[in-house]
Amino acid sequence: MGLPRGHLFWLLLLLAAACSGILFTLYSSAVGPYPGPRSGARNATSSRAFFGRKASNAGTRKSPHCRHSLYLAIQKHPHFRALFELSTPVLLSGGLFTQELWDRLSQHKAPYGWQGLSRQAINSTLSLLNGSESSELFTASGKPPSTCIRCAVVGNGGILNGSRQGLNIDAHDYVFRLNGAVIKGFEKDVGTKTSFYGFTVNTMKNSLISYWNLGFTSVPQGQDLRYIFIPSDIRDYVMLRSAILGVPVPEGPDKGDSPARTARPAAGPVPFPSPRSPTCPTTARAALSTSSMGPRPQTYFGPEASARKFKLLHPDFISYLRERFLKSKLINTNFGNLYMPSTGALMLLTALHTCDQVSAYGFITSNYWKFSDHYFERIKKPLIFYVNHDLSLEATLWKNLHKAGILQLYQR
Ligand SMILES: *[C@@H]1O[C@H](CO)[C@@H](O)[C@H](O)[C@H]1NC(C)=O
Ligand SMILES: *[C@@H]1O[C@H](CO)[C@@H](O)[C@H](O)[C@H]1NC(C)=O
Ligand SMILES: *[C@@H]1O[C@H](CO)[C@@H](O)[C@H](O)[C@H]1NC(C)=O
Ligand SMILES: *[C@@H]1O[C@H](CO)[C@@H](O)[C@H](O)[C@H]1NC(C)=O
Repeated sequence: MGLPRGHLFWLLLLLAAACSGILFTLYSSAVGPYPGPRSGARNATSSRAFFGRKASNAGTRKSPHCRHSLYLAIQKHPHFRALFELSTPVLLSGGLFTQELWDRLSQHKAPYGWQGLSRQAINSTLSLLNGSESSELFTASGKPPSTCIRCAVVGNGGILNGSRQGLNIDAHDYVFRLNGAVIKGFEKDVGTKTSFYGFTVNTMKNSLISYWNLGFTSVPQGQDLRYIFIPSDIRDYVMLRSAILGVPVPEGPDKGDSPARTARPAAGPVPFPSPRSPTCPTTARAALSTSSMGPRPQTYFGPEASARKFKLLHPDFISYLRERFLKSKLINTNFGNLYMPSTGALMLLTALHTCDQVSAYGFITSNYWKFSDHYFERIKKPLIFYVNHDLSLEATLWKNLHKAGILQLYQR
């Protein structure tokens, strides 16, 4: 597959630029991941001994007890062996916040750092992520330690429509979903289990706006579910802090949102109007409309407000993924500032750095043109390539990881 060429390409560039302020991470959610299983927390001691990883990545290291561990597949592959650095911390927690980290990350723009962001806002958010569960992905399930953690990452690609993969997906120990993850009505194709939901505040809210009429009326919720914040903007830090404290967002574009259902229960879903604008795609149009509607209290994450419910991807991990796995040519264009790996890519690569086996469902494949953009669309809609992501590069990466036996990519 290749990038769109010529006029179409430049038109999309302009569209993306025009809409990027609100939209530019939205389309990342269109593509999904695949699953793999294992349960419970790993034996950090033996894993550390086996892999020589740093303690900061405790709970996210690979188990040596897995028959077909992706770790072993990586070791056997000359190219990927040089790319994977499994000791890279995946999550950012309060204990990692130091003067040195501030100095370094304040030289890079979000999601790769904190340039231009308020130190006080970052500090006050990170200081809430001070428990041990903030540095580990797999802790809260209460399951016994497992020897082989199998994860499914479910993207939202149209390939899942009619796939009947629901039971296979749910059979994994952990299921990752992201952005507009519609479940109701698609259980047979996408399953029902959700262990992790990954998003940026921007992609989450845009998904609620854009896919409301297609059934995405609520972010997945559940007692065992954990949320993975992708820090693409100060909004993400501010929302995360309010979510942990169970208070309304005090400032910024999300002011007034009550991320957790604490103060008063939501009265029920309120549909978003979607005024028309001639210049932006549907999703952007709808997103633009919210600013004119003003802040409206909105709950996203269910009743529990506590640090254990929320994880935050480390900006260094996102940089590492971009440099090693998704170093797009787009970075050197005028739109380089907009580029970041898609939400689906970030979730799939997170799973690959924390699980022992990973399956990807609903992610882009070489025959993507056969399928609708998303599995939940009613009328087939082509996948759109925007400049803020490089879906072609991501498709190549998934294909090669699948060939190398490092992940299992659902294809049909
Ligand atoms: C973890 O593995 C080490 C070394 O194999 C072993 O001594 C220890 O008992 C294990 N701990 C648990 C909780 O299984
Ligand atoms: C974070 O804030 C606390 C309390 O104000 C302060 O003691 C600490 O030095 C700050 N940390 C950094 C790295 O700025
Ligand atoms: C984390 O910080 C909160 C608020 O400052 C404090 O109440 C709590 O005891 C701390 N938890 C740990 C594990 O240090
Ligand atoms: C979903 O699949 C069904 C049959 O499997 C097909 O009729 C329908 O057109 C598909 N929907 C989209 C949006 O492609």
